[in-house]
Amino acid sequence: MAVRDILKMGNPLLRTAAAEVKNPASSEIAALLQDMRDSMAAAGGVGIAAPQIGISKQVVIFEVPQARVEKEDGDGARGVPSTVLINPKIEPLSDEIALGWEGCLSVPGLRGLVPRYTHIRYRGLDAEGGAIDVEAKGFHARVVQHECDHLLGILYPERMTDMRFLVYESEAKAFMEGLQQGRAE
Ligand code: NI
Repeated sequence: MAVRDILKMGNPLLRTAAAEVKNPASSEIAALLQDMRDSMAAAGGVGIAAPQIGISKQVVIFEVPQARVEKEDGDGARGVPSTVLINPKIEPLSDEIALGWEGCLSVPGLRGLVPRYTHIRYRGLDAEGGAIDVEAKGFHARVVQHECDHLLGILYPERMTDMRFLVYESEAKAFMEGLQQGRAE
């Protein structure tokens, strides 16, 4: 078990496009995945990308907890167990974009309202080198887009279109209640 430090916004590695993995089933990638899992568990999050622990390779891990997806997308939405995605490619399946709240282990303490495609297809490899080809909607699609952005050197604030909606976690609850009551200004 190795819990690595999570790099924070401003670190140049988070701005760097990550390298393609040549051999997903190698012991090197297995060790990287274990460090990513340990670091994510220690920090508490639903996803992590290899560059966040200082390794500039195209590897992400994410999960979509059932309780969270129901909260975001309503009853009937299905969670996704912990998933390894290597060398991912994302293709939007519709032009529809929705705003949703995101946080990031590399941007601690903040939350932002981020536009993302609502319906995507993602492809890549799993930890054994097998093909992944999945259609995703809603929060599942959001998590995948967020994590894969890390591999392009992009953090969620750069995807935001209205910086009034970048807020501290400690203020987020009152802020969202204000929004619902039409008092966002
Ligand atoms: Ni992140």
